[in-house]
Amino acid sequence: MFAATLLTLFPEMFPGPLGVSLAGDALARGLWSCEARDIRAHGLGRHRAVDDTPAGGGPGMVMRADVLAASLDAAAGDDPRPRLIMSPRGTPLTQAQARRWAAGPGLVILCPRFEGVDERIIEGRKLIEVSIGDYVLSGGEIAALAVLDACVRLIPGVMGKIESGDSESFETGLLEYPQYTRPREWEGHAIPDVLLNGDHARIEKWRRDEAERITRERRPDLL
Ligand code: ADE
Repeated sequence: MFAATLLTLFPEMFPGPLGVSLAGDALARGLWSCEARDIRAHGLGRHRAVDDTPAGGGPGMVMRADVLAASLDAAAGDDPRPRLIMSPRGTPLTQAQARRWAAGPGLVILCPRFEGVDERIIEGRKLIEVSIGDYVLSGGEIAALAVLDACVRLIPGVMGKIESGDSESFETGLLEYPQYTRPREWEGHAIPDVLLNGDHARIEKWRRDEAERITRERRPDLL
């Protein structure tokens, strides 16, 4: 079973949107698990402090390595699961990486807040830094939800038809071709004729050409 453990200051954010629809049904069916642990349980002193001012000065606060280590070690001391830390500085998430993680035992994901974490926790606990894109979120939680969503839908038994993911964007190396359904004409726009005449070889060729055209226009870096 794919087991997700989140380390966060906001455990109430989980499973959040992953508690409904495809992922939520799979959670209820026991195909994956989601445990959110409060980093503040390992905070220091009367105020359960988890952060401190940055060495060298500057704005913001930095999460302490000792507090994060206590939280990680309590959650996953000698656990074989990959340990991730969400960060805009990380390696960008790919479909191929989501597929590898989905086939494994699960993930332990540290969700930072504030200006960041003490660098020593990354090396000291062998954390894999992962980004979900070139923009800055206010914390790692929403990024962790995106990683988990990408993984959970690939767990065997979660999607209705096992191959239903195979023609999607990124699985073929191309963005997805356009889809249509009834009505045949809507606001003066008709469904392309080729899709209505039952010639499956022509339909396949049209879809491949359209996928290539859209990829060339929008994401030439994928070609
Ligand atoms: N935390 C803040 N921004 C992020 C991003 N783009 N990816 C992953 N974690 C983040």
